[in-house]
Amino acid sequence: MPPSLVSFQQALVTWFQANQRPLPWRNGYDPYQIWISEIMLQQTQVERVLLFFDRWLRQFPGIHTLASSSEDSVLKCWEGLGYYSRARNILRCARIIVDKHGGIIPSAPSILLTLPGIGPYTAGAIASIAYNLPTPLVDANIARLFSRLFNIDIPLKQAGALLWQKAKEVVPLTNARSFNQGLMELGALVCTPKNPDCHRCPLLRFCIAHQNGLIDQRPIHQKGKKQRLIEMATGILSYSQGRHAPNLLFIQQRLIDDVWGCLWEFPGGKLKTGESPEQALVREFLEETGFSVHITGKITRTIHHYTCYKVILHCFHCSFEHSPDIPDRRELESALPSPPILTAAQQYRWVSFRELSQFAFPAGHRKLIEYMQQFPQTLTIPVQKIRG
Ligand code: ADE
Repeated sequence: MPPSLVSFQQALVTWFQANQRPLPWRNGYDPYQIWISEIMLQQTQVERVLLFFDRWLRQFPGIHTLASSSEDSVLKCWEGLGYYSRARNILRCARIIVDKHGGIIPSAPSILLTLPGIGPYTAGAIASIAYNLPTPLVDANIARLFSRLFNIDIPLKQAGALLWQKAKEVVPLTNARSFNQGLMELGALVCTPKNPDCHRCPLLRFCIAHQNGLIDQRPIHQKGKKQRLIEMATGILSYSQGRHAPNLLFIQQRLIDDVWGCLWEFPGGKLKTGESPEQALVREFLEETGFSVHITGKITRTIHHYTCYKVILHCFHCSFEHSPDIPDRRELESALPSPPILTAAQQYRWVSFRELSQFAFPAGHRKLIEYMQQFPQTLTIPVQKIRG
């Protein structure tokens, strides 16, 4: 091994040991906790993960508790972290690990790669961080760091094989745990996207972009795609069981393979070209549930940014267009509307506003619920007209 590689490795490990953030999953390097933290950290900032990690461990302290939990409880605990397929894959993984691996998280990347939701990065992270095995890994922070260290002059999206090759070349046989975390930590704290703090960098003397005065030109940026705008409409269909009973709201659980699969929602969907939000809502309600509704008021508009698109969600109150199922006041108390014909959901419920907190919703719908909590006057849902 060239002496410069050894000093490179030592410089990074020493720096990591002195400068690492005290993150909870670094206490004891329990493989279950490393796995959960790594899945949470995909596409999510450390600060945000910290808000969820402790709660997760309180609810699912180990793999056996997790494997025997319901998908709904896992999704509810994940609510707010986004990219919900991660949560469903964690549960599938836990059940496979309990059934096939005796409840022990595998250490071999080749086995880890067979598990749902575990790709090369996560396999490398579990093998090296939990088990200290000399396994390479590349994430976004490491890719940026390498683009400067090795002066990579192509956009990172096209440099995958080269980046992994570099990761393989530099990972040490011993102490890969501190080395790999050191790469990530250096990318997060020092070799930042804007204004990297080169004078605090333990690898400055190895950095080729720095030697060539090219730090501010690395990584090479590919022309970004513009964030797509998606407009959607959703409606809170309310139903009164009588003057003294709380209004019930209609919610449905999305299909498993859909975007936001298995999350709950108020029906609705994307606006078609030329359609108003109101028209889209009435159409979507009919298509998704068979219910003919009319709109009784606008509640708010929520906006949520995803990686490649931004969703504007127009939110309305609505009620049944006709109420032939609810003939008069006396029958009303026991009457429920006829069941929906679901085409975009696996099940539905009529729930009170308070009960909504038991279900996991996508971000836009959760913002709508929070808005109604914050402005209770919006909860005064127009009660549908009752004959008699
Ligand atoms: N980002 C991804 N994995 C991480 C880890 N283990 N520590 C800090 N940031 C990370």
